[in-house]
Amino acid sequence: MHDFRYVGNKLYCEGVSIESLAKNHGTPLYVYSQATLTRRFLELDRAMSPVDHLVCFAMKSNSNQSILRTIANLGGGFDIVSGGELQRVIAAGGDAKKCVFAGVGKTDAEIEFALRKGVYSFNAESEPELQRINKVAARLKKIAPVAVRLNPNVDAKTHAKITTGTYENKFGIAFEDIAGVYARASKLKHLRLRGLQMHIGSQLTDVKPFELAVKKVVPVVEALKAQHGIEFFSIGGGVGIVYQDAIASGDAKWWAQEGENILTPQKYAARLLPLLKNLGLRILMEPGRYISGNSGILVTRVEYVKRTGKKNFVIVDGAMNDLIRPAFYDAYHEIVPLTKKGGVTISSDVVGPVCESGDYFCKDRELPKVGEGDYLALLSAGAYGFVMASCYNTRSLAAEVLVSGKKSAVVRARQPVKDIWAGESVAAWLK
Ligand code: LLP
Repeated sequence: MHDFRYVGNKLYCEGVSIESLAKNHGTPLYVYSQATLTRRFLELDRAMSPVDHLVCFAMKSNSNQSILRTIANLGGGFDIVSGGELQRVIAAGGDAKKCVFAGVGKTDAEIEFALRKGVYSFNAESEPELQRINKVAARLKKIAPVAVRLNPNVDAKTHAKITTGTYENKFGIAFEDIAGVYARASKLKHLRLRGLQMHIGSQLTDVKPFELAVKKVVPVVEALKAQHGIEFFSIGGGVGIVYQDAIASGDAKWWAQEGENILTPQKYAARLLPLLKNLGLRILMEPGRYISGNSGILVTRVEYVKRTGKKNFVIVDGAMNDLIRPAFYDAYHEIVPLTKKGGVTISSDVVGPVCESGDYFCKDRELPKVGEGDYLALLSAGAYGFVMASCYNTRSLAAEVLVSGKKSAVVRARQPVKDIWAGESVAAWLK
């Protein structure tokens, strides 16, 4: 079920015409559905309900204040990766005590801030980091709750840039080294060994790698519980979503139907819970994309259509600076017009105005024939969309709108162009 659908020939987000939003607020424009966001969170939360659990939304996927507040209101926690993200959670009314702090490069200042705010756990990625957390905690006369990120060395079989659970990448501590690391960490007086964490990668569409990793790690978790009294096991994030055929010819098909060969929370829980339920531990999850991905779209306007001998280029006002995933990961985002077009399609490259040949949203894709002034939507852009945006080419950050039923609100104003260089100055000797 999804909340972006055609009503007549107009694309709607819940009860709001997206074209009206584009006309009122301009483009490029991110539009989010609160209903989809809520449903996605609750689906995972309910699937995990047979065990004591906490869903910590990976806010790196979408950290808009309204998105965070929606998750906080549903009782969710947050997977954070910087002091800045913790500040955002607090600003949005979230609870620091439901935050797990991940990342390989936490600074002294970030550790101190997180300790003062009382995060649930630091997910440490190296021994030097454990020593550093211990030192900062000692200075503040505090005990820091920590978990170690275990690298299970299981190939998630996802895109190379988003696989994290093998020894080829920088994350976590090797499976074989874990027992020794916990033994040494248990001697550090300002640490409390609270849990164990793992994460094998992102956009996994098969449950198998999750199952393999959990199976491999459960005996380690049991041993750590017996030896060090750990309380939680975080199985990370990574649950994949449907990017293709999200809206096929007007038929709602945002999420796979029952029986289709795709990962669902039900399948995920059915395969993992039997492995987890007898541990007697709290199970944490860190999903980002599953919750936010299909909840958002990027709306863009066609500026020009340019035909060369070989190609039909649709030049739009959105670009790689607004949504970098196609350029960076060769990611597929379905592209549909806000006003449904008749049968004729044409092989098209949808490209932005940025001066890079990598600035494209799709290549050689059969799309309805569009012209200047038409609006297009890039679907499934709610995760790793706006958060990865930049001001490259001195293009301001897009506006963001949240929809709930028939209501809509601008939840981030379009960045005024002058704000892009607001922190800059001309060196005195140049004046
Ligand atoms: N936990 C940890 C430790 C992570 O590193 C990540 C994602 C997550 C949870 C959330 O993963 P998710 O449930 O969203 O798959 N920018 C890339 C994705 C990078 C993912 C980084 N880590 C993209 O656009 O596909």
